[in-house]
Amino acid sequence: MRPTYAEINLSNLRYNYLSIAKKVGKKVAIMPVVKADAYGHGMIECVKSLRKLNPQPHYYGVALLEEAMEFRQAFRKEKILVFGTIDPRYFRVVLRNNITPTFYEIDQIKKFSNVCKRLKIIGKFHLEIDTGMGRVGVNHAEASDYIHWIKNENDLFLEGIYTHFATSDSKDKSFAYTQLERFERIRVFAKKEIPTIKYFHTANSGAILDIPEAYFDMVRPGISLYGYYPSEETSESIKLKPVMSLKTKISFLKTVTKGTTISYGRIFKAKKRTNIATLPIGYADGYNRLLSNKGKAFIKNKLYNVIGRVCMDQIMIDLGDDLVTTEDEVILIGSNDQQKFDAADISRLINTIPYEVCTSITKRVPRKYVY
Ligand SMILES: Cc1ncc(COP(=O)(O)O)c(C=O)c1O
Repeated sequence: MRPTYAEINLSNLRYNYLSIAKKVGKKVAIMPVVKADAYGHGMIECVKSLRKLNPQPHYYGVALLEEAMEFRQAFRKEKILVFGTIDPRYFRVVLRNNITPTFYEIDQIKKFSNVCKRLKIIGKFHLEIDTGMGRVGVNHAEASDYIHWIKNENDLFLEGIYTHFATSDSKDKSFAYTQLERFERIRVFAKKEIPTIKYFHTANSGAILDIPEAYFDMVRPGISLYGYYPSEETSESIKLKPVMSLKTKISFLKTVTKGTTISYGRIFKAKKRTNIATLPIGYADGYNRLLSNKGKAFIKNKLYNVIGRVCMDQIMIDLGDDLVTTEDEVILIGSNDQQKFDAADISRLINTIPYEVCTSITKRVPRKYVY
C-alpha cells in the first residue's frame, strides 16, 4: 500500500466544535455543515465524533440528497437538512427517510405538498430566502407572499427559514448587515404568521466569528469546524485547530548534479549538486498542480521545496545536502512543533481558499482517524 494518507484529528474537530458552541452560547443550536464528505474529512467519522458532544448538534447540513442518504444510512435519528435543489421525483425518498429539504419555489412546494397528501405525512422543510447571495432562495421582496401561502397548507410544516451571507468573511461587513436587515424583516413577519417555526438561521463561519446578531436560533459552521478561518479578513475570535494533515513517505531518493532538470517541462534546474526525494502523491490525489515549484514539505521539522511540475501521482522535493531516509514521515499539509504549512498557507500560494484545498483531496487518499 502506498504510504500517502490524510490524517484526520478528531480531537481537534471536537475542540473546534466546542469552541464554536462556547462562542455562540447555550441558547443557540448548532448545525455542523458536513457536505462534500465533511469538507474532505469524512462525513461519517466526523458525525460519529460530534454527535456525542455536549451540547449536541441539533441538525446537520449537506448540499445533496445523495449526501443526506449516506448520512441517513449511518444515523437514524439525527436531523439532516439538504441545502440544494431536490428533484421532485425523489420527494417520497425524502419523506420516507426523514430528510429535511430546502425549498425556494412555489412549484417545488406544491409538488412536495401533493406527495405529502398522498403519503398522509406532514412534510417538514426549510425555506431559503435570497437576501443578497444571488444563488438560490426566494427573493427577499417576495418572501412574505410565500410565508402567507405556506401558512394555509395543512400538509406542510415550515420548520425553518434561513439565508446565506455573501460577504460575512469580508472586512467590510456593510452588505452582510444589509442582508441581515432584510432577513430580520422577514423573521418578524414570519413569526407572527407561523409561530411554530423553530429555527431562523443565517450564520456561516464568517458570521459566527464576527456577527453575533446573526446567530438567531441556530448557526451553520463549516470551515471553522475543520480548523480554518473562512478568509484572512475575519477576526480570529475563536481559536481553531486544523483537523486534516496530509502525510506520506519518500518513494525514491537520488543525488543529482548541477544542471539536472526535474519533471515535465523542465521548469526546475538544479543550481548545484543536490539530493532529491520523490513522493508518491500528485494532482490525482488533490495535490494541486499549481503547487509546481511552490509547494513545501516537512521532514523532521525542516521545510523543503517542491520542485518541478507536480505530476499526476508523484512530486519531487529538494533536500539540498540533507540526508533523510525513506522511513521518515513527510508532511505536505500540517504542522510540527514550531512551524506550520497548512491548507491556509497553500491557499495563499495558489490563490484559492482552504475550503478548496481540503475538499480537493481525493478518495484515492485514505483517511486515517486520530481520536
Ligand atoms: C447554506 C450554507 N450554510 C453554511 C455553510 C458553511 O459555510 P462556512 O464553511 O463558510 O462556515 C455553507 C457552505 O458553503 C452553506 O452553503
